Amino acid sequence: MNKLGLKSLNVKGKRVFVRVDFNVPLSNGQVSDDTRIRAALPTIEYICRTGGRLILASHLGRPNAQVTSGMSLKPVADRLSELLGKTVFFPGETVGEKMEQEVKVLDVGDVLLLENLRFDPGETANDTNFAKSLAKLADVYVNDAFGSAHRAHASTVGMVKYFTLAAAGLLMERELHYLGMALSSPPRPFTALLGGAKVSDKIEVVNSLLKKVDRLLIGGGMVYTFLRAKGMATGNSLVEEDKIVLAAQVLEKHASKLDLPVDHVVATSLAADVVETCTLPIDEIPDSWMGLDIGPQTVKQYSEHIRDSKMVLWNGPMGVFEMEPFAKGTVRVAKAVASSKATSVVGGGDSVAAVRKAGASDAITHMSTGGGATLAFLAGSRLPGVEVLTDA
Ligand code: 3PG
Repeated sequence: MNKLGLKSLNVKGKRVFVRVDFNVPLSNGQVSDDTRIRAALPTIEYICRTGGRLILASHLGRPNAQVTSGMSLKPVADRLSELLGKTVFFPGETVGEKMEQEVKVLDVGDVLLLENLRFDPGETANDTNFAKSLAKLADVYVNDAFGSAHRAHASTVGMVKYFTLAAAGLLMERELHYLGMALSSPPRPFTALLGGAKVSDKIEVVNSLLKKVDRLLIGGGMVYTFLRAKGMATGNSLVEEDKIVLAAQVLEKHASKLDLPVDHVVATSLAADVVETCTLPIDEIPDSWMGLDIGPQTVKQYSEHIRDSKMVLWNGPMGVFEMEPFAKGTVRVAKAVASSKATSVVGGGDSVAAVRKAGASDAITHMSTGGGATLAFLAGSRLPGVEVLTDA
């Protein structure tokens, strides 16, 4: 990474603004998955330990510039307090005189979390006044919000120019290190697994990765658009008609390194309690049935490729993972990735959840906290939130 890292900053006695990505799921007013909060702990603890006074800021959801009680960051402040074992101050506002007073009285090692930045229209509009007001709260700037680095908003881009030094946090550095390794210097053989419902969501990533990988294994709903491009029957499976030509072009250019499933689990309808499912070779599907998971032969072949690789990158489920009858392919692939000796990088909510379900999180080298940001990075796009940081 050619950007200044947190450890090169002197934070002693300083008010440190840290943009984090605390866009976490809430249920009944509580954080139901604290992965992203835990992922920011190394940065938070490092700054407290080295004498900084911390001002954390994040968005949560898409409140469309309305103060929305269900999208307050208060439950996040409570969870973070538990994780840190000390009170996280939560004044319930973002900018203004009251906040300027609040941050002035912070002691070394204190942690304060601002309210949801997207309650203010200035955040997503990357408004200059809002950016300036945020910048007024602190002396130095750190971005640890890899998950939001593809957004050019006031807290990720606009405010940065008001600081002499802007550094990447420890999570940001880790994300850029492992995802960057996949794109620039992967240990070989390098295998990528891409799943998910739609070709349209992943086509840039497919094209970008095909230039880097030794092998690309495809799973999930997008398989069926590729099968149609090969002129095969797909029954009632999800097919993006307007992407068939694109899929055909990809296949023609890269057939030798792109693998499609050899069998699949098919069902009469997409429902968790569906009674009729069966496993068939990939070129067989009854007219009114749909393909919803990769089959055991595919799992076996994909697992062998994973086992023989030195680097594995996985993004997107292999089937309709949230429904038990169609979860096996994804869970077995998660186990294969976890048991390989390769440097393994897993991204995307469903793939990360599958790794957890398989009880295999500890065996993965790096689990990315990004959704859209990870895809943008893998597609080769520049991330505005990284671009603006101080060069190393
Ligand atoms: C995410 O969850 O991917 C990030 O927090 C970005 O959220 P956004 O898509 O609402 O900008």
